[in-house]
Amino acid sequence: MWIAVTREVSSALGDCELSYVPREAIDVARASAQHRDYQRALEILGCRLLTLPAEPDLPDSVFVEDVAIVLDEVAVLTRPGALSRRAEVASVAEVLRGYRPVLAIAAPGTLDGGDVLRVGRTLYVGESARSNAEGIAQLRELLADRGYAVQGVPTRGCLHLKSAVTQLGDDTLLLQSEWVDRDRFADFRVIEIDPAEPHAANVLRIGDTLVMPASFPRTRQRLLDAGFHVMVVDVSELQKAEGAVTCCSLVFRADE
Ligand code: GLY
Repeated sequence: MWIAVTREVSSALGDCELSYVPREAIDVARASAQHRDYQRALEILGCRLLTLPAEPDLPDSVFVEDVAIVLDEVAVLTRPGALSRRAEVASVAEVLRGYRPVLAIAAPGTLDGGDVLRVGRTLYVGESARSNAEGIAQLRELLADRGYAVQGVPTRGCLHLKSAVTQLGDDTLLLQSEWVDRDRFADFRVIEIDPAEPHAANVLRIGDTLVMPASFPRTRQRLLDAGFHVMVVDVSELQKAEGAVTCCSLVFRADE
């Protein structure tokens, strides 16, 4: 079965970190309602939710993807690049210890889970403002004996690698070529986002379904035309916090 770890929206979401989107007022009640719809979507797709309580002092804590990388064999706790986000790790670690042996990135390494795109046995890791060379090197070392390759990928103009590229199918990626070089993914079939929707490259693949924000109809049409099954969620308030659909959960397989 699939487990999806989520965390309720913080009442302080309006004080979130922002890097590439302008600050706008966030309606926290609306963000929470949208987050509940997102959680329901994951349940409809067969995930069992494990939901942590809201953290009033941690504005970005709904974005649980950034604090861990969960692989089949092991989980790696990250050390988030934003200081304000480091305290998010411990509570998620406690949950993950029930499912996987847990390793961790240590100082001076920094790594955000949003920078880690796993495709098969390769982890592509964004060389972003959040994930530094030391963090990427530590990840490579931690996973080398477990048969994973770790490849750094430069990003530009976006928060995380997965703002720029996510997986659609076993050999197919959705990509925003202004933020990451398509050449880095030459072995894949690539669908580009519609240029009118620069933030559309982040979709969450669960089984054969792609969960994507309602705000990208043109890119959605490209995916439908290519034969993909798409489930739409309205996450507009979470997008104001520079969040997207992969960031709001940690989805992994578990025997139960
Ligand atoms: N607001 C999401 C982040 O900057 O981590």
